[in-house]
Amino acid sequence: MQADHIPDSILIVDFGSQVTQLIARRVREAGVYSEIAPYTQAEAAFARMKPKGIILSGSPASVPDDGSPRAPEMLFGAGVPILGICYGQQVMSQQLGGEVRPGHETGEGGEFGRAYLTVTQPCALFDGLWAVGERHQVWMSHGDKVTRFAPGFEIVAVSDGAPFAVIADEARKFYGTQFHPEVVHTPDGGKLITNFVRHVCGLAGDWTMAEFRKTKIDEIRAQVGSGRVICGLSGGVDSSVAAILIHEAIGEQLTCVFVDHGLLRLGEREQVETMFRDHYNIPLVVVDAEERFMAGLAGLTDPEAKRKFIGGEFINVFDEEARKIGGADFLAQGTLYPDVIESVSFTGGPSVTIKSHHNVGGLPARMKMALVEPLRELFKDEVRLLGRELGLPEVFVGRHPFPGPGLAIRIPGEVTQDRCDILRKADAVYLDEIRKAGLYDAIWQAFAVLLPVKTVGVMGDYRTYDYVCALRAVTSTDGMTADVYPFDAQFLTGCATRIVNEVQGVNRVVYDYTSKPPGTIEWE
Ligand code: XMP
Repeated sequence: MQADHIPDSILIVDFGSQVTQLIARRVREAGVYSEIAPYTQAEAAFARMKPKGIILSGSPASVPDDGSPRAPEMLFGAGVPILGICYGQQVMSQQLGGEVRPGHETGEGGEFGRAYLTVTQPCALFDGLWAVGERHQVWMSHGDKVTRFAPGFEIVAVSDGAPFAVIADEARKFYGTQFHPEVVHTPDGGKLITNFVRHVCGLAGDWTMAEFRKTKIDEIRAQVGSGRVICGLSGGVDSSVAAILIHEAIGEQLTCVFVDHGLLRLGEREQVETMFRDHYNIPLVVVDAEERFMAGLAGLTDPEAKRKFIGGEFINVFDEEARKIGGADFLAQGTLYPDVIESVSFTGGPSVTIKSHHNVGGLPARMKMALVEPLRELFKDEVRLLGRELGLPEVFVGRHPFPGPGLAIRIPGEVTQDRCDILRKADAVYLDEIRKAGLYDAIWQAFAVLLPVKTVGVMGDYRTYDYVCALRAVTSTDGMTADVYPFDAQFLTGCATRIVNEVQGVNRVVYDYTSKPPGTIEWE
Protein backbone atom coordinates (compact mmCIF):
# COMPACT_ATOMS: atom_id res chain seq x y z
CA MET A 1 0.00 0.00 0.00
CA GLN A 2 1.41 3.35 -0.94
CA ALA A 3 -1.23 5.67 0.54
CA ASP A 4 -0.08 8.83 2.22
CA HIS A 5 -0.39 9.33 5.93
CA ILE A 6 -1.89 6.11 7.21
CA PRO A 7 -3.46 7.03 10.53
CA ASP A 8 -3.23 4.57 13.36
CA SER A 9 -0.44 2.49 11.88
CA ILE A 10 2.79 0.89 13.03
CA LEU A 11 5.99 0.91 10.97
CA ILE A 12 8.00 -2.30 11.20
CA VAL A 13 11.63 -1.78 10.23
CA ASP A 14 13.02 -4.99 8.74
CA PHE A 15 16.66 -5.96 9.21
CA GLY A 16 16.23 -9.26 7.31
CA SER A 17 14.91 -11.57 10.03
CA GLN A 18 13.13 -14.78 8.94
CA VAL A 19 10.26 -13.88 11.28
CA THR A 20 9.64 -10.19 10.56
CA GLN A 21 6.26 -11.05 9.05
CA LEU A 22 5.28 -12.67 12.33
CA ILE A 23 5.63 -9.24 13.95
CA ALA A 24 3.20 -7.84 11.36
CA ARG A 25 0.89 -10.70 12.02
CA ARG A 26 0.87 -10.12 15.79
CA VAL A 27 0.19 -6.43 15.16
CA ARG A 28 -2.75 -7.40 12.89
CA GLU A 29 -4.00 -9.72 15.64
CA ALA A 30 -3.95 -6.71 17.97
CA GLY A 31 -6.31 -5.04 15.49
CA VAL A 32 -3.75 -2.55 14.18
CA TYR A 33 -2.57 -1.87 10.64
CA SER A 34 1.17 -2.11 9.99
CA GLU A 35 3.61 -1.95 7.13
CA ILE A 36 7.05 -3.46 6.85
CA ALA A 37 9.86 -1.41 5.32
CA PRO A 38 13.42 -2.59 4.79
CA TYR A 39 15.76 -0.54 7.00
CA THR A 40 17.12 1.16 3.87
CA GLN A 41 13.66 2.58 3.08
CA ALA A 42 12.41 3.13 6.62
CA GLU A 43 12.95 6.87 6.63
CA ALA A 44 10.82 7.36 3.52
CA ALA A 45 8.17 4.99 4.87
CA PHE A 46 8.06 6.92 8.13
CA ALA A 47 7.66 10.22 6.31
CA ARG A 48 4.84 8.80 4.20
CA MET A 49 2.91 6.88 6.86
CA LYS A 50 3.40 9.06 9.94
CA PRO A 51 2.96 5.94 12.10
CA LYS A 52 2.12 6.02 15.81
CA GLY A 53 4.84 3.53 16.71
CA ILE A 54 7.90 1.72 15.36
CA ILE A 55 9.07 -1.87 15.79
CA LEU A 56 12.67 -2.79 14.92
CA SER A 57 12.99 -6.43 13.77
CA GLY A 58 15.61 -9.09 14.40
CA SER A 59 18.33 -9.88 11.88
CA PRO A 60 20.83 -12.54 10.83
CA ALA A 61 23.46 -9.75 10.99
CA SER A 62 25.66 -8.88 13.97
CA VAL A 63 25.68 -5.32 15.34
CA PRO A 64 29.46 -5.29 16.08
CA ASP A 65 30.27 -6.27 12.46
CA ASP A 66 31.37 -3.51 10.12
CA GLY A 67 28.65 -2.63 7.64
CA SER A 68 25.84 -4.29 9.62
CA PRO A 69 22.47 -2.54 9.23
CA ARG A 70 21.49 0.52 11.28
CA ALA A 71 18.12 2.18 11.80
CA PRO A 72 17.76 5.66 10.30
CA GLU A 73 18.88 8.03 13.10
CA MET A 74 15.84 10.26 12.61
CA LEU A 75 13.53 7.52 13.90
CA PHE A 76 14.97 7.95 17.40
CA GLY A 77 14.14 11.65 17.34
CA ALA A 78 10.67 11.32 15.84
CA GLY A 79 8.86 11.35 19.17
CA VAL A 80 7.03 8.03 18.67
CA PRO A 81 7.38 4.88 20.79
CA ILE A 82 9.89 2.24 19.63
CA LEU A 83 10.08 -1.47 20.38
CA GLY A 84 13.36 -3.15 19.42
CA ILE A 85 13.31 -6.94 19.16
CA CYS A 86 16.56 -8.96 19.44
CA TYR A 87 18.82 -7.30 16.84
CA GLY A 88 16.40 -4.35 17.04
CA GLN A 89 17.14 -4.03 20.76
CA GLN A 90 20.88 -4.33 20.15
CA VAL A 91 21.03 -1.85 17.30
CA MET A 92 18.92 0.67 19.22
CA SER A 93 21.21 0.31 22.26
CA GLN A 94 24.33 0.75 20.12
CA GLN A 95 22.96 3.76 18.22
CA LEU A 96 21.82 5.49 21.42
CA GLY A 97 25.19 5.14 23.17
CA GLY A 98 25.21 1.64 24.68
CA GLU A 99 27.41 -1.31 23.77
CA VAL A 100 26.82 -4.68 22.08
CA ARG A 101 29.42 -7.43 22.07
CA PRO A 102 29.59 -10.70 20.16
CA GLY A 103 28.76 -13.82 22.21
CA HIS A 104 32.24 -15.29 21.65
CA GLU A 105 33.85 -12.20 23.26
CA THR A 106 31.72 -12.23 26.37
CA GLY A 107 32.68 -15.90 26.75
CA GLU A 108 29.06 -16.84 27.36
CA GLY A 109 27.99 -17.87 23.84
CA GLY A 110 24.42 -17.25 22.79
CA GLU A 111 21.00 -18.40 23.85
CA PHE A 112 18.88 -20.39 21.44
CA GLY A 113 15.42 -21.73 22.14
CA ARG A 114 13.31 -21.72 25.27
CA ALA A 115 14.51 -19.50 28.12
CA TYR A 116 13.04 -18.01 31.28
CA LEU A 117 13.20 -14.42 32.36
CA THR A 118 12.43 -12.77 35.69
CA VAL A 119 10.63 -9.44 35.83
CA THR A 120 12.63 -6.97 37.96
CA GLN A 121 10.76 -3.66 37.45
CA PRO A 122 7.28 -2.63 36.35
CA CYS A 123 7.11 -1.64 32.67
CA ALA A 124 4.33 -0.37 30.40
CA LEU A 125 4.89 -3.42 28.15
CA PHE A 126 3.99 -5.72 31.04
CA ASP A 127 0.90 -3.87 32.27
CA GLY A 128 -1.91 -6.23 33.20
CA LEU A 129 0.30 -9.14 32.19
CA TRP A 130 3.56 -9.63 34.10
CA ALA A 131 4.31 -8.55 37.69
CA VAL A 132 7.65 -7.94 39.39
CA GLY A 133 9.26 -11.15 40.63
CA GLU A 134 7.42 -13.44 38.17
CA ARG A 135 9.23 -15.85 35.86
CA HIS A 136 8.04 -16.27 32.28
CA GLN A 137 8.93 -18.43 29.34
CA VAL A 138 10.30 -16.67 26.26
CA TRP A 139 12.06 -17.67 23.04
CA MET A 140 15.63 -16.52 22.56
CA SER A 141 17.78 -16.75 19.45
CA HIS A 142 20.88 -14.61 19.76
CA GLY A 143 24.65 -14.83 19.77
CA ASP A 144 25.44 -11.18 20.58
CA LYS A 145 24.08 -9.29 23.52
CA VAL A 146 23.83 -5.81 24.94
CA THR A 147 26.61 -5.37 27.50
CA ARG A 148 25.94 -1.73 28.38
CA PHE A 149 22.59 -0.11 27.85
CA ALA A 150 22.17 3.42 26.54
CA PRO A 151 21.55 6.46 28.79
CA GLY A 152 17.93 6.72 29.90
CA PHE A 153 17.29 2.95 29.83
CA GLU A 154 16.68 0.64 32.77
CA ILE A 155 16.66 -3.12 33.02
CA VAL A 156 13.13 -4.37 33.65
CA ALA A 157 13.64 -8.13 33.16
CA VAL A 158 16.64 -10.47 33.24
CA SER A 159 17.39 -13.99 32.06
CA ASP A 160 20.37 -16.20 32.77
CA GLY A 161 21.93 -15.67 29.37
CA ALA A 162 20.74 -12.09 28.80
CA PRO A 163 21.10 -9.70 31.75
CA PHE A 164 19.23 -7.19 29.59
CA ALA A 165 16.33 -9.44 28.63
CA VAL A 166 14.04 -6.40 28.56
CA ILE A 167 15.15 -2.77 28.80
CA ALA A 168 12.95 0.31 28.91
CA ASP A 169 13.21 4.06 28.70
CA GLU A 170 9.72 4.97 29.87
CA ALA A 171 10.27 8.71 29.31
CA ARG A 172 10.90 8.26 25.58
CA LYS A 173 8.73 5.11 25.39
CA PHE A 174 11.61 3.07 23.96
CA TYR A 175 11.64 -0.64 24.79
CA GLY A 176 13.95 -3.48 23.87
CA THR A 177 13.50 -7.23 24.23
CA GLN A 178 16.37 -9.65 23.72
CA PHE A 179 13.82 -12.42 23.16
CA HIS A 180 11.34 -12.78 20.29
CA PRO A 181 7.79 -11.86 21.39
CA GLU A 182 6.49 -12.47 17.84
CA VAL A 183 6.97 -16.27 17.84
CA VAL A 184 4.43 -18.65 19.39
CA HIS A 185 7.10 -20.13 21.66
CA THR A 186 6.92 -16.92 23.70
CA PRO A 187 3.46 -17.70 25.07
CA ASP A 188 2.69 -14.11 26.17
CA GLY A 189 4.45 -12.55 23.18
CA GLY A 190 1.28 -11.56 21.33
CA LYS A 191 -0.03 -9.85 24.47
CA LEU A 192 3.23 -7.93 24.91
CA ILE A 193 2.97 -6.69 21.33
CA THR A 194 -0.69 -5.82 21.91
CA ASN A 195 0.36 -3.83 24.99
CA PHE A 196 2.94 -1.99 22.90
CA VAL A 197 0.66 -1.05 20.01
CA ARG A 198 -2.47 -0.29 22.00
CA HIS A 199 -1.38 0.77 25.43
CA VAL A 200 2.01 2.40 24.70
CA CYS A 201 1.28 3.72 21.18
CA GLY A 202 -2.38 4.44 22.00
CA LEU A 203 -3.91 2.72 18.96
CA ALA A 204 -7.55 1.65 19.16
CA GLY A 205 -7.24 -1.89 17.81
CA ASP A 206 -10.26 -1.68 15.51
CA TRP A 207 -8.62 -2.86 12.26
CA THR A 208 -10.16 -6.12 10.92
CA MET A 209 -10.03 -8.62 8.04
CA ALA A 210 -12.94 -6.71 6.50
CA GLU A 211 -10.58 -3.71 6.29
CA PHE A 212 -7.94 -5.91 4.73
CA ARG A 213 -10.44 -7.03 2.10
CA LYS A 214 -11.33 -3.43 1.25
CA THR A 215 -7.70 -2.29 1.18
CA LYS A 216 -6.69 -5.20 -1.06
CA ILE A 217 -9.60 -4.62 -3.45
CA ASP A 218 -8.53 -0.99 -3.83
CA GLU A 219 -4.92 -2.06 -4.33
CA ILE A 220 -5.82 -4.67 -6.94
CA ARG A 221 -7.92 -2.13 -8.87
CA ALA A 222 -5.11 0.42 -8.69
CA GLN A 223 -2.49 -2.10 -9.83
CA VAL A 224 -4.51 -3.68 -12.63
CA GLY A 225 -6.37 -0.68 -14.04
CA SER A 226 -8.18 -1.88 -17.14
CA GLY A 227 -5.68 -4.73 -17.73
CA ARG A 228 -6.51 -8.41 -18.02
CA VAL A 229 -5.53 -10.84 -15.25
CA ILE A 230 -5.04 -14.56 -15.51
CA CYS A 231 -5.11 -16.54 -12.27
CA GLY A 232 -3.63 -19.97 -11.73
CA LEU A 233 -5.82 -22.15 -9.55
CA SER A 234 -4.17 -25.04 -7.76
CA GLY A 235 -7.30 -26.39 -6.11
CA GLY A 236 -6.08 -25.23 -2.73
CA VAL A 237 -7.47 -22.57 -0.42
CA ASP A 238 -4.87 -19.91 -1.23
CA SER A 239 -5.31 -19.64 -4.97
CA SER A 240 -9.08 -19.90 -4.57
CA VAL A 241 -9.22 -17.07 -2.02
CA ALA A 242 -6.93 -14.99 -4.24
CA ALA A 243 -9.16 -15.65 -7.27
CA ILE A 244 -12.39 -14.79 -5.46
CA LEU A 245 -10.89 -11.60 -4.02
CA ILE A 246 -9.56 -10.54 -7.41
CA HIS A 247 -12.88 -11.39 -9.04
CA GLU A 248 -14.59 -9.17 -6.49
CA ALA A 249 -12.18 -6.39 -7.41
CA ILE A 250 -12.16 -6.60 -11.20
CA GLY A 251 -14.88 -9.08 -12.26
CA GLU A 252 -14.72 -10.00 -15.94
CA GLN A 253 -11.15 -8.79 -16.34
CA LEU A 254 -10.12 -11.99 -14.54
CA THR A 255 -9.75 -15.41 -16.21
CA CYS A 256 -9.06 -18.39 -13.96
CA VAL A 257 -6.96 -21.22 -15.32
CA PHE A 258 -6.79 -24.59 -13.67
CA VAL A 259 -3.91 -26.73 -14.89
CA ASP A 260 -4.42 -30.44 -14.52
CA HIS A 261 -0.77 -31.45 -14.45
CA GLY A 262 -1.53 -35.00 -13.42
CA LEU A 263 -0.09 -34.30 -9.97
CA LEU A 264 -3.43 -33.63 -8.26
CA ARG A 265 -5.17 -35.53 -5.51
CA LEU A 266 -8.03 -37.92 -6.22
CA GLY A 267 -11.16 -36.05 -7.35
CA GLU A 268 -9.51 -32.65 -7.02
CA ARG A 269 -10.11 -31.44 -10.55
CA GLU A 270 -13.83 -32.18 -10.36
CA GLN A 271 -14.15 -30.39 -7.01
CA VAL A 272 -12.53 -27.25 -8.36
CA GLU A 273 -14.65 -27.26 -11.50
CA THR A 274 -17.85 -27.56 -9.49
CA MET A 275 -16.86 -24.89 -7.03
CA PHE A 276 -15.86 -22.22 -9.55
CA ARG A 277 -18.33 -22.84 -12.32
CA ASP A 278 -21.41 -23.83 -10.37
CA HIS A 279 -21.08 -22.12 -7.01
CA TYR A 280 -19.30 -18.91 -7.92
CA ASN A 281 -20.06 -18.59 -11.59
CA ILE A 282 -16.47 -17.54 -12.19
CA PRO A 283 -15.31 -18.49 -15.72
CA LEU A 284 -12.78 -21.30 -15.56
CA VAL A 285 -10.42 -22.67 -18.19
CA VAL A 286 -9.26 -26.23 -17.44
CA VAL A 287 -6.08 -27.26 -19.23
CA ASP A 288 -5.24 -30.92 -19.73
CA ALA A 289 -1.49 -30.86 -19.32
CA GLU A 290 -0.75 -34.22 -17.77
CA GLU A 291 1.25 -35.54 -20.70
CA ARG A 292 3.59 -32.61 -21.04
CA PHE A 293 4.28 -32.49 -17.30
CA MET A 294 4.99 -36.21 -17.13
CA ALA A 295 7.25 -35.98 -20.17
CA GLY A 296 9.19 -33.10 -18.66
CA LEU A 297 9.52 -34.80 -15.28
CA ALA A 298 10.92 -38.00 -16.81
CA GLY A 299 14.45 -38.55 -15.55
CA LEU A 300 14.35 -35.66 -13.05
CA THR A 301 15.22 -36.72 -9.51
CA ASP A 302 16.67 -33.61 -7.86
CA PRO A 303 13.96 -31.84 -5.79
CA GLU A 304 14.96 -28.37 -6.93
CA ALA A 305 15.11 -29.49 -10.57
CA LYS A 306 11.58 -30.91 -10.25
CA ARG A 307 10.29 -27.73 -8.61
CA LYS A 308 11.95 -25.50 -11.18
CA PHE A 309 10.59 -27.54 -14.08
CA ILE A 310 7.03 -27.54 -12.71
CA GLY A 311 7.15 -23.81 -11.94
CA GLY A 312 8.49 -23.07 -15.41
CA GLU A 313 6.00 -25.32 -17.17
CA PHE A 314 3.11 -23.73 -15.27
CA ILE A 315 4.18 -20.38 -16.59
CA ASN A 316 4.44 -21.78 -20.13
CA VAL A 317 0.87 -23.04 -19.86
CA PHE A 318 -0.36 -19.72 -18.51
CA ASP A 319 1.44 -17.84 -21.24
CA GLU A 320 -0.24 -20.01 -23.87
CA GLU A 321 -3.67 -19.61 -22.26
CA ALA A 322 -3.14 -15.87 -21.95
CA ARG A 323 -2.44 -15.66 -25.65
CA LYS A 324 -5.60 -17.63 -26.40
CA ILE A 325 -7.76 -15.12 -24.56
CA GLY A 326 -6.10 -12.29 -26.44
CA GLY A 327 -3.33 -11.54 -23.96
CA ALA A 328 -3.18 -10.93 -20.22
CA ASP A 329 -1.15 -8.26 -18.52
CA PHE A 330 -1.01 -9.84 -15.08
CA LEU A 331 -0.57 -13.25 -13.53
CA ALA A 332 -2.37 -13.69 -10.20
CA GLN A 333 -1.18 -16.19 -7.62
CA GLY A 334 -2.12 -17.20 -4.10
CA THR A 335 1.42 -16.85 -2.81
CA LEU A 336 1.54 -16.71 0.99
CA TYR A 337 4.15 -15.30 3.25
CA PRO A 338 5.76 -18.63 4.26
CA ASP A 339 6.26 -19.33 0.51
CA VAL A 340 7.99 -16.01 0.17
CA ILE A 341 10.22 -16.09 3.20
CA GLU A 342 11.48 -19.58 2.53
CA SER A 343 12.31 -18.75 -1.07
CA VAL A 344 13.74 -15.29 -0.84
CA SER A 345 13.68 -12.51 1.71
CA PHE A 346 10.45 -10.54 1.62
CA THR A 347 12.42 -7.34 1.48
CA GLY A 348 15.13 -8.50 -0.88
CA GLY A 349 17.45 -8.80 2.10
CA PRO A 350 19.77 -11.62 3.03
CA SER A 351 17.55 -14.51 4.17
CA VAL A 352 18.40 -18.06 3.22
CA THR A 353 16.74 -20.15 0.45
CA ILE A 354 15.25 -23.37 1.82
CA LYS A 355 13.12 -24.42 -1.17
CA SER A 356 12.09 -22.77 -4.40
CA HIS A 357 8.37 -22.69 -3.85
CA HIS A 358 6.87 -23.13 -7.24
CA ASN A 359 4.76 -20.03 -7.24
CA VAL A 360 7.78 -17.92 -6.40
CA GLY A 361 11.04 -19.51 -7.43
CA GLY A 362 10.24 -21.04 -10.80
CA LEU A 363 9.24 -17.87 -12.59
CA PRO A 364 11.45 -17.64 -15.62
CA ALA A 365 12.70 -14.25 -16.69
CA ARG A 366 10.90 -14.62 -20.01
CA MET A 367 7.51 -14.36 -18.27
CA LYS A 368 5.79 -11.41 -19.80
CA MET A 369 3.12 -10.78 -17.17
CA ALA A 370 3.45 -8.77 -13.97
CA LEU A 371 2.41 -10.50 -10.73
CA VAL A 372 -0.69 -9.86 -8.65
CA GLU A 373 -0.25 -11.55 -5.26
CA PRO A 374 -2.82 -10.15 -2.84
CA LEU A 375 -2.09 -12.69 -0.08
CA ARG A 376 1.65 -12.18 -0.05
CA GLU A 377 1.76 -10.85 3.51
CA LEU A 378 -0.67 -13.34 5.02
CA PHE A 379 -0.26 -16.59 6.85
CA LYS A 380 -2.45 -19.59 6.16
CA ASP A 381 -4.86 -19.12 9.03
CA GLU A 382 -5.29 -15.46 8.07
CA VAL A 383 -6.14 -16.58 4.52
CA ARG A 384 -8.79 -18.82 6.03
CA LEU A 385 -10.21 -15.85 7.94
CA LEU A 386 -10.25 -13.88 4.71
CA GLY A 387 -11.91 -16.83 2.93
CA ARG A 388 -14.69 -16.82 5.52
CA GLU A 389 -14.96 -13.06 5.16
CA LEU A 390 -15.48 -13.66 1.41
CA GLY A 391 -18.15 -16.27 2.11
CA LEU A 392 -16.32 -19.43 1.06
CA PRO A 393 -17.95 -22.62 2.38
CA GLU A 394 -16.41 -23.86 5.63
CA VAL A 395 -15.48 -27.27 4.20
CA PHE A 396 -13.45 -25.58 1.51
CA VAL A 397 -11.87 -22.99 3.81
CA GLY A 398 -10.79 -25.75 6.19
CA ARG A 399 -9.02 -27.85 3.56
CA HIS A 400 -5.46 -28.87 4.28
CA PRO A 401 -2.83 -26.97 2.30
CA PHE A 402 -1.68 -28.57 -0.94
CA PRO A 403 1.55 -27.42 -2.61
CA GLY A 404 1.67 -26.06 -6.16
CA PRO A 405 4.05 -28.80 -7.40
CA GLY A 406 1.48 -31.28 -6.12
CA LEU A 407 2.30 -34.95 -5.76
CA ALA A 408 5.66 -34.47 -7.50
CA ILE A 409 7.24 -33.35 -4.22
CA ARG A 410 5.64 -36.28 -2.41
CA ILE A 411 7.38 -38.78 -4.68
CA PRO A 412 11.07 -38.52 -3.90
CA GLY A 413 13.11 -39.51 -6.95
CA GLU A 414 11.59 -39.80 -10.39
CA VAL A 415 7.91 -39.01 -10.87
CA THR A 416 6.05 -41.43 -13.14
CA GLN A 417 2.41 -41.85 -14.02
CA ASP A 418 2.38 -45.19 -12.25
CA ARG A 419 3.83 -43.75 -9.04
CA CYS A 420 1.34 -40.86 -9.12
CA ASP A 421 -1.58 -43.28 -9.44
CA ILE A 422 -0.37 -45.39 -6.53
CA LEU A 423 0.20 -42.33 -4.35
CA ARG A 424 -3.21 -40.84 -5.18
CA LYS A 425 -4.93 -44.00 -3.97
CA ALA A 426 -2.87 -44.35 -0.80
CA ASP A 427 -3.42 -40.68 0.04
CA ALA A 428 -7.19 -41.00 -0.45
CA VAL A 429 -7.38 -44.02 1.88
CA TYR A 430 -5.31 -42.23 4.54
CA LEU A 431 -7.46 -39.09 4.40
CA ASP A 432 -10.62 -41.13 4.45
CA GLU A 433 -9.47 -42.76 7.69
CA ILE A 434 -8.62 -39.34 9.16
CA ARG A 435 -12.02 -37.93 8.29
CA LYS A 436 -13.82 -40.98 9.65
CA ALA A 437 -11.92 -40.63 12.92
CA GLY A 438 -13.05 -36.98 13.09
CA LEU A 439 -9.44 -35.78 13.14
CA TYR A 440 -9.29 -33.78 9.89
CA ASP A 441 -9.77 -30.35 11.45
CA ALA A 442 -7.34 -31.02 14.29
CA ILE A 443 -4.55 -31.56 11.77
CA TRP A 444 -2.84 -28.83 9.76
CA GLN A 445 -1.81 -31.13 6.95
CA ALA A 446 -1.89 -34.89 6.40
CA PHE A 447 -0.72 -36.72 3.31
CA ALA A 448 0.97 -39.82 2.00
CA VAL A 449 4.44 -39.92 0.44
CA LEU A 450 5.56 -42.65 -1.96
CA LEU A 451 9.17 -43.67 -1.42
CA PRO A 452 11.24 -44.79 -4.40
CA VAL A 453 12.19 -47.86 -2.41
CA LYS A 454 10.85 -51.38 -2.75
CA THR A 455 10.84 -53.86 0.08
CA VAL A 456 9.93 -57.50 0.43
CA GLY A 457 6.65 -58.53 1.99
CA VAL A 458 4.38 -61.52 2.13
CA MET A 459 0.69 -61.56 1.29
CA GLY A 460 -1.13 -64.87 1.45
CA ASP A 461 1.45 -67.35 0.31
CA TYR A 462 3.13 -64.93 -2.04
CA ARG A 463 6.26 -62.88 -1.81
CA THR A 464 5.66 -59.23 -2.69
CA TYR A 465 8.23 -56.66 -3.73
CA ASP A 466 6.54 -53.27 -3.64
CA TYR A 467 6.88 -49.62 -2.66
CA VAL A 468 7.01 -48.13 0.82
CA CYS A 469 4.42 -45.48 1.63
CA ALA A 470 5.16 -42.93 4.35
CA LEU A 471 2.35 -41.14 6.16
CA ARG A 472 2.78 -37.61 7.47
CA ALA A 473 0.50 -35.50 9.66
CA VAL A 474 1.46 -32.28 11.39
CA THR A 475 -0.06 -29.55 13.48
CA SER A 476 0.96 -25.96 12.83
CA THR A 477 -0.45 -22.46 12.92
CA ASP A 478 1.38 -21.01 9.95
CA GLY A 479 3.42 -23.73 8.25
CA MET A 480 6.64 -22.10 9.46
CA THR A 481 7.06 -24.59 12.29
CA ALA A 482 5.20 -27.85 12.81
CA ASP A 483 4.75 -30.67 15.29
CA VAL A 484 4.05 -34.29 14.47
CA TYR A 485 0.41 -35.26 15.00
CA PRO A 486 0.35 -37.91 17.74
CA PHE A 487 -1.98 -40.56 16.29
CA ASP A 488 -2.53 -43.56 18.50
CA ALA A 489 -0.96 -46.81 17.36
CA GLN A 490 -4.29 -48.44 16.61
CA PHE A 491 -5.24 -45.68 14.18
CA LEU A 492 -1.94 -45.98 12.31
CA THR A 493 -2.15 -49.76 12.20
CA GLY A 494 -5.64 -49.45 10.72
CA CYS A 495 -4.38 -47.07 8.01
CA ALA A 496 -1.42 -49.32 7.20
CA THR A 497 -3.65 -52.37 6.85
CA ARG A 498 -6.13 -50.59 4.59
CA ILE A 499 -3.44 -49.08 2.38
CA VAL A 500 -1.58 -52.36 1.88
CA ASN A 501 -4.85 -54.20 1.24
CA GLU A 502 -6.41 -51.64 -1.07
CA VAL A 503 -3.52 -50.07 -2.93
CA GLN A 504 -1.72 -52.28 -5.33
CA GLY A 505 1.98 -51.45 -5.46
CA VAL A 506 2.43 -50.71 -1.74
CA ASN A 507 3.37 -53.42 0.75
CA ARG A 508 4.76 -51.40 3.66
CA VAL A 509 3.65 -48.24 5.50
CA VAL A 510 5.75 -46.08 7.84
CA TYR A 511 4.91 -42.95 9.86
CA ASP A 512 7.09 -39.83 9.75
CA TYR A 513 7.94 -38.61 13.27
CA THR A 514 9.93 -35.50 12.30
CA SER A 515 8.89 -32.01 13.42
CA LYS A 516 9.68 -28.82 11.48
CA PRO A 517 12.41 -27.84 12.07
CA PRO A 518 14.50 -29.90 11.50
CA GLY A 519 12.30 -31.48 8.80
CA THR A 520 10.16 -29.51 6.40
CA ILE A 521 6.49 -30.40 6.06
CA GLU A 522 6.78 -31.70 2.49
CA TRP A 523 9.48 -34.26 1.78
CA GLU A 524 11.03 -32.18 -1.00
P1 XMP B 1 7.50 -26.94 3.80
O1 XMP B 1 7.59 -28.25 3.10
O2 XMP B 1 8.38 -25.89 3.19
O3 XMP B 1 6.02 -26.44 3.58
O4 XMP B 1 7.69 -27.06 5.29
C1 XMP B 1 5.39 -25.40 4.26
C2 XMP B 1 3.99 -25.29 3.70
O5 XMP B 1 4.06 -24.81 2.34
C3 XMP B 1 3.49 -25.76 1.46
N1 XMP B 1 4.33 -25.77 0.26
C4 XMP B 1 4.02 -25.14 -0.88
N2 XMP B 1 2.94 -24.42 -1.24
N3 XMP B 1 3.88 -24.07 -3.39
C5 XMP B 1 2.87 -23.93 -2.50
O6 XMP B 1 1.87 -23.30 -2.86
C6 XMP B 1 4.99 -24.77 -3.11
O7 XMP B 1 5.90 -24.91 -3.92
C7 XMP B 1 5.05 -25.34 -1.79
N4 XMP B 1 6.00 -26.11 -1.15
C8 XMP B 1 5.51 -26.36 0.10
C9 XMP B 1 3.51 -27.08 2.20
O8 XMP B 1 2.53 -27.98 1.71
C10 XMP B 1 3.26 -26.61 3.62
O9 XMP B 1 1.89 -26.36 3.85
